Amino acid sequence: MDEMRDRCVVITGASSGIGKAISACFAREGAHLCLGSRPEEAADLTAWAQELERTHAIRTWTFPVDLALPDGPERFHAAVRGIGRPVDVFVNNAGVLWYGSFAALSLEKQVETVQVNVLAHMKLMHLFLADMRERRSGRIWNVSSVSAFQPSCHHAVYGATKAFVQSLSEAVHEELRGTGVTVSTLNPSYTDTAMIHGEGFPRRLWWFDVSGVRTAEETARIGYRAFKRGKGLCITGWQNRLIHTLLLRLTPRKLMAAISYWVLQAKPSPRD
Ligand SMILES: NC(=O)c1ccc[n+]([C@@H]2O[C@H](COP(=O)([O-])OP(=O)(O)OC[C@H]3O[C@@H](n4cnc5c(N)ncnc54)[C@H](OP(=O)(O)O)[C@@H]3O)[C@@H](O)[C@H]2O)c1
Repeated sequence: MDEMRDRCVVITGASSGIGKAISACFAREGAHLCLGSRPEEAADLTAWAQELERTHAIRTWTFPVDLALPDGPERFHAAVRGIGRPVDVFVNNAGVLWYGSFAALSLEKQVETVQVNVLAHMKLMHLFLADMRERRSGRIWNVSSVSAFQPSCHHAVYGATKAFVQSLSEAVHEELRGTGVTVSTLNPSYTDTAMIHGEGFPRRLWWFDVSGVRTAEETARIGYRAFKRGKGLCITGWQNRLIHTLLLRLTPRKLMAAISYWVLQAKPSPRD
């Protein structure tokens, strides 16, 4: 599926950051878009959808549904079904991250992270997959992270949720072989979005010096190119590909957590 014109693409978390930038990539190629956000961002989402319609002569629909609610994913899926168009691509992108040690962060924040990044992610994948399997055609594109590949100290639950997404995506892709439906992942490294400017997130991490920090547009562009080529997994940036595919395999697991602890700490800026 490399021709996107008139395809129907669903993107969660399209009101900001990587999801918003991904929506622009699909819109430029003429795909019609179903865009999601939390209800609080409904006005921004509508404004963005209208801009995409004006600029690219496409159709859009907006679905501001809180995916952290127990029935949020089901409501989102039912609303998208309500427009009466088969979904060609589902981009499972919405996510949250809280920075801080596991013991210090509130249980409420950790539970929200699991609800959005794991439960909603898994439920939405299952729901959209069922429709695609029936039609024997479709692509699920899960936004995972480089955090999926090793323990992520200082955002331990977030890292664990991405490991879940990665494992699930790769296993289900294999199970679907021959059905006309595929699952692939985008694995960005740090990207300059609201996520890394949230409450408690340090201004700089030591790791930024190694991995770099991309703009949401760069991350989306790299990912979209890989998606169009049908790549199963896309790690953004050569240094991240080298680290997360090759170097990590050579590193003892115990050492990985210790390295993660040190490099994901705040780096004092000259003014501190
Ligand atoms: N930024 C990074 O460094 C980085 C690195 C690797 C992977 N990622 C992944 O990239 C994806 C997008 O993150 P981002 O960096 O673009 O962050 P972002 O700008 O904060 O975007 C997150 C999106 O998820 C939506 N969302 C969050 N909670 C939701 C909920 N309960 N219900 C519905 N929508 C919800 C947000 O909607 P609202 O705008 O309404 O809040 C927003 O549109 C995430 O899966 C993240 O884990 C990010």
